[in-house]
Parts: sequence; structure tokens; C-alpha cells
Amino acid sequence: MVKARHWTRPEEFHGEVKESDLKLVEENLSEDLKDGEVLCEAVYLTVDPYMRMHGSVIGERKTMFGAAVSKVIKTRNGEFPLGTLVLSGSGWRTHFISKDGKDLKPIPFDLGNLSPSVALGVLGMPGLTAYFGLNRKLEPKSGDVCLVNGAAGAVGSIVGQLAKLKGCTVIGFAGTDDKCEWLKQELGFDHAFNYKKIKLEDALKQAAPKGVDIFFDNIGGDFFHEMIDKHMAQNGRVYPQINMKILFHELTIRGIIVSSHYNEAQEALAEMSELVKKGQLKYKETLFDGFDKMPEAFVGLFKGENTGKAVIKASNYP
Ligand SMILES: NC(=O)c1ccc[n+]([C@@H]2O[C@H](COP(=O)([O-])OP(=O)(O)OC[C@H]3O[C@@H](n4cnc5c(N)ncnc54)[C@H](OP(=O)(O)O)[C@@H]3O)[C@@H](O)[C@H]2O)c1
Repeated sequence: MVKARHWTRPEEFHGEVKESDLKLVEENLSEDLKDGEVLCEAVYLTVDPYMRMHGSVIGERKTMFGAAVSKVIKTRNGEFPLGTLVLSGSGWRTHFISKDGKDLKPIPFDLGNLSPSVALGVLGMPGLTAYFGLNRKLEPKSGDVCLVNGAAGAVGSIVGQLAKLKGCTVIGFAGTDDKCEWLKQELGFDHAFNYKKIKLEDALKQAAPKGVDIFFDNIGGDFFHEMIDKHMAQNGRVYPQINMKILFHELTIRGIIVSSHYNEAQEALAEMSELVKKGQLKYKETLFDGFDKMPEAFVGLFKGENTGKAVIKASNYP
């Protein structure tokens, strides 16, 4: 028998996560394996912010979930010999038995002299979040100003460095002076600010007077809103942390100001007017008769009194 331990979670975390929310449970795992089974012992485990999640995202799971790097300590599966290092989504467990090895993955790169823990960080889920989030979604170019908060965290620290490699000017925000020193001295960030000591606005006056082209948000909240309200450059790109649905559905949220497209208007109107004339594009107008009806028409907009376009007939035509 192996004494296996795992951490259980509450159905929901209320407010700040507290250690007392988690309970350590012991169980005996039989070492008497069946054909195909693999007994694994965790070598490295990970804690990530998403583990607070609940509801449909995690379903009925009672054990804290997440990835692990484990070693095979007993096996009846030829694919996973004794001592093999494997990645799994086995959660916060010291030991587990894989029934057939299908839930185990070899480390997908050559570790060389690296610690296997990198498969949970820089060369794991957080590193890939940084890589795909930045390189695939935000299209960094040389000369862009890239701002990342949570900059000394698992994702943020990689985002900043990948952005530097693309030739961006990189600004990081983190919560201690030591973290900021690390970002600047060792990771090569151009600027790093302790958000507990300096206002965003003051920091960006010196670091990004023309605005930020790429904002990789790891925090959400006021920081996010202030960035969007005041500090983004024209055509800026944002990885947001405000709503998990945006992330899960990989939504693209793009701003548009129609006047920027007026140079293409003639073409668009030619196409649309044809559709209107053919009855393939229908429209309705809520007509207010007389110039003195303008306030009524205007107020009506905020009460839903118009269907289609509210227009005012001010005089006769022709
Ligand atoms: N979209 C995806 O697929 C995906 C994947 C992975 C992670 N994420 C998200 O990316 C974000 C960063 O993840 P991570 O793994 O890098 O996290 P992490 O390494 O755990 O970093 C968290 C850091 O954020 C800072 N922080 C915590 N609470 C804060 C607050 N209220 N205000 C400001 N800073 C705060 C802390 O550093 P300071 O000292 O600087 O405050 C903390 O060390 C998380 O929101 C995570 O959910 C998304």
C-alpha cells in the first residue's frame, strides 16, 4: 500500500482564498497493479490563479485540480517504464494510479539540464499563455510599447521577455521593489514600477508618453479600466483579464470608430444601396414630423421609442 494524500477544495471559494478552505485527505493506494496500470508519484505540482474557479468549469471535482510532473514508481505498462517522468492533470495529489497511461504525457521537449518543474512554468501552461497570448493574439512589432502587469508572475515575466525579443519597449508593473529590480536588471525590462508606490498615470508619463500599443493584462479591475480609459495608443491591442468568458471563448474584442473608415465609404454604400433597392436589406424609420419634435425624438431614444432609425422631418421635400 502507498499512503497517498490529496487536497480537497470547497464547492466555492468565498472572498479571499484561505488555507482553511483546503483539507488534506489521506488514502491507501494498492500497489497491486493491473495490466496497463501505472503508479505515479508527484515530483512537481503547480498552483495557478485559475484554481479558484468553480461551477461548470470544474464540474464535480472535489480534489484541487491542476497539472503535475510525476515519476513512475511502479508500472505494468510498457509505454511508461519505471522512473519515467510524466505530465498529467492529476491535481494536488502525492500519488495516483493511471488506468492505462492515456492520461499521462511524456515531457514534450528535451529537458537537458533543466529542472522538470519548468514543464509547469516557463515551458508549460503559463509560458504558453505568454507565447500564444502575445505572439498570436497581440502581434508585437519592433518599436511597440508593451505593458504587462503581474509582471513578475509566471505569465507576465515571460510576456515581457518575449516582447523584448520582438523589439518592443517593455514596461512592467509588480508589487515590490525587489520584483521591479529583477524585471529590470535580470529580465531586461525597460521600465518596472511598483504599483503600490506609484500611480499608473505618473509612471506612464515618463515611460509611455505616447500611449501603450500592447497591454497584456494579468490583473483586471481598476488597473484594466484605467489603461483602457487613458493610456492605450491608437490601434492598441489588449489581452484582457476582466471576464473569463472572453478567454475561454477566445473572443476578439475590437474597437471601431466609423469615421476612420470613411475613405472606404463609397464602395460600401454602393454595395448596400443595391441591397436596399433589391429589398435584401430592410429598414424602418420612426419619423417625427416637425423640427420642434427634436427633443421628443431625442429623449425617446433613451426610452426605446424608436424602431429602426429615428429621423425628424423638418420640411417638405421636394
Ligand atoms: N488565458 C489563459 O489561458 C491563462 C492561462 C494562465 C494564466 N492566466 C491568467 O493570467 C494571470 C497571471 O497568471 P500567473 O500564472 O502569471 O499568476 P502568478 O504567477 O500567480 O502571478 C500572480 C501575481 O499577480 C500579482 N497579484 C496578485 N493579486 C493582485 C492584485 N489584486 N493586484 C495586482 N497584482 C496582483 C502578485 O504579484 P505582485 O507582487 O506584483 O502583486 C502575484 O504574484 C492570472 O489572472 C491567470 O488567471 C490565463
